[in-house]
Amino acid sequence: MSAASSPFPSTVITGGTIGSIIIGCKLQVLHGNPPEYRKAEILSIRPTPTPEDATRSEYYVHYSDYNKRLDEWVVPERLNLLGEIEFPKVKKPKTVLAGIGKETGKGSEPGTPGASNGGRVAKNNRKSNLSKASKAGKAGDTASPAPGTPGTPGGASTVAGNKRKASAMDEAGGASQDKDGQVPSIKVNGEDEDEDEDGQGGDDTPGLDDDGASEYSKEREIEKLRTSGSMTQDPHEVARVKNLNMIQFGKHEVETWYFSPYPVEYAHLPILYICEFCLSYFPAVKQLSRHRTKCSLQHPPGNEIYRKDNISFFEIDGRKQKVYCRNLCLLSKLFLDHKALYYDVDPFLFYVMTVRDEDGAHLIGYFSKEKESSEQYNVACILTLPQYQRMGYGRLLIAFSYELSKVEKRLGSPEKPLSDLGLLSYRAFWSEAIVILLLEQHKTGVELSIDDIASRTAFQPTDVLHTLQTLNALKYYHGQYVIVLSETVIKNAERALKKSRREIDPRALVWKPIHFTATQLRFL
Ligand code: ACO
Ligand code: ZN
Repeated sequence: MSAASSPFPSTVITGGTIGSIIIGCKLQVLHGNPPEYRKAEILSIRPTPTPEDATRSEYYVHYSDYNKRLDEWVVPERLNLLGEIEFPKVKKPKTVLAGIGKETGKGSEPGTPGASNGGRVAKNNRKSNLSKASKAGKAGDTASPAPGTPGTPGGASTVAGNKRKASAMDEAGGASQDKDGQVPSIKVNGEDEDEDEDGQGGDDTPGLDDDGASEYSKEREIEKLRTSGSMTQDPHEVARVKNLNMIQFGKHEVETWYFSPYPVEYAHLPILYICEFCLSYFPAVKQLSRHRTKCSLQHPPGNEIYRKDNISFFEIDGRKQKVYCRNLCLLSKLFLDHKALYYDVDPFLFYVMTVRDEDGAHLIGYFSKEKESSEQYNVACILTLPQYQRMGYGRLLIAFSYELSKVEKRLGSPEKPLSDLGLLSYRAFWSEAIVILLLEQHKTGVELSIDDIASRTAFQPTDVLHTLQTLNALKYYHGQYVIVLSETVIKNAERALKKSRREIDPRALVWKPIHFTATQLRFL
C-alpha cells in the first residue's frame, strides 16, 4: 500500500472502498467501550502483522480533537466506509533542482511505522494540547470522558489480572529508621562511583549502550539511534505513530501512550519486557527472566536521600548513571509527548520515587532536574507510571521537588510547557498549598503578600499569582489588590485536609544540594 495522492477530484466523498483509504484521509472510526464513531485521521497504514492475514491492512488513526495518547492501530472493520471520507489535498510535486534538493526523511513507507515515523523528538518539542479524553482509564472505567475533560489515562493492568493493586504495597515493610526518624544517606552498591557502562545486565541486555563500548560519545550515540531506525534527524518530523503498544513492567502490563525511540526491531512486538529495576528492555519474557538471574538490582541506582514508611527517593546523576538514566528517559517518553531527552542525560539529576515491598523498591515515578537551570526550573520532566496514577503519587513528586528547593533556598517552577496532566496536577497542588497556607495564616492575623507566599512555599511568584487568578481570589479593593478566598475554595481545601494521604515529611530528607563546578557542568 502506498501513500499515493487522492484519485478523487473532490476532497470529500460519501462512501468508499477500503482500497481507496490512504494516509491523510479523515473518516469516522469506531472507538471506545461502548464503541462510538469519532472522526479520525489515518496517519499510517501497514500490513496486518499476522501472516495468514497478509493481504489485509491495519490503520493507525488519530482521533480529531482528542489527545494523541488515544491514537491506535485499528482493523478495517472499524472504519466507516459508508459515511463521509475526507481526502487529503493533493500537493503539487515540488520541483527539485539538481544539487539543491534536500532529503527530508518524510514520505516514508507505510508498514514500517517505527522506522518511517520514528521522529527524533527534540528535548523541548514544545507542544501542549489539553486532553479531551484519555486512554483506557482506571480499572473499572468504561465510558470515555466527555470532550473537554482530561479523562483518566491508564491502560494499565497487572499480569495477574488484578488491575493496579497487584504490586501490593507492603505498608509494614518500611525502612528501619533511627530514633529521630531519620535515615542515613545510603550508598547503593557504591553507585556513587562512575558507573561501568557495561554494568546493566550483561551480554543479553539489549538496553542502550550495552555493547561493551567503554567510551561515551554523544555523536556515536546519535548515530547509533539514527541508524537503528528509531530516530530521524529532521526535528520537524515529530513521531506521529506509536511504535510500541504494551510494556511489561514488574507485575504490570501497561499500554503505552506515545512514540519512544526504542530500537526499531522492537516496534512490532506485542509486548516489550522491561526489567523494573535496571530498566533494560527485552523482546521476550525468556530473555527478561534470564536477565533477572544476573541482574542484582532491587532498587534504582544512586543515593537514597529520603525514606519514610515504604516510600523512598533516590538521587541519580545522569553523568554517572548514563545507561539507567537513558533507559528511564526512553521509558518515560512512552507517556510524555511534548518533551523528553534521551541521550543527553549528563546535565540532569533524576529523583526516582519507589515503593518498597519484600521484592525490592519498585519504581513509581520520577522527575528530572537540571543541575544548573538558568530559568530556576526545579523540575524538567515529571512522570507517574500509568499503573500508579491518580493515587496521589504525582502530588508527592511535586511536593518533594519543592522540598529540595526549600533546602536550596531557591524558588522553583516546573519547566514549561506543561502537559495537560502536568498542568492539572500542578494547579491542584499549588491551589491546595496556597489556600491551606492562607487559612493557617488567617488565624494569626498577619497578612501575606504574594512574595511571602512564594518564600514560604518555594513556588515562584508568577505561579502564586496565576494560581490566585485561577481561584478568582484577587480582588481590587480600595485601590489595591487583596486576596479573598470564596466559600467554595475554603470548603474544597478543608475537604482535602481531611483526606488521609501520604505526605512528604521534610525530616526524612537527608540531602545537601550538590554544587557542580564549571568543569562538571561542561557537558559538550
Ligand atoms: N484528570 C483530572 N485531574 C487530574 C488528572 C486527570 N487525569 N491527573 C491528575 N489530576 C489532578 C487531580 O486534581 C489530582 O488530585 P485528585 O486525584 O485528588 O483529584 C491531582 O492532579 C494530583 O493527582 P496525583 O494522583 O497526585 O497525580 P498522578 O500520580 O496521577 O501524576 C502526573 C500526575 C505526573 C502529571 C501524571 O499524570 C503523569 O505522569 N502524566 C504523564 C506525563 C506528564 O504529562 N507529565 C507532566 C509533564 S509536564 C513536565 O514534565 C514539567
Ligand atoms: Zn535488570
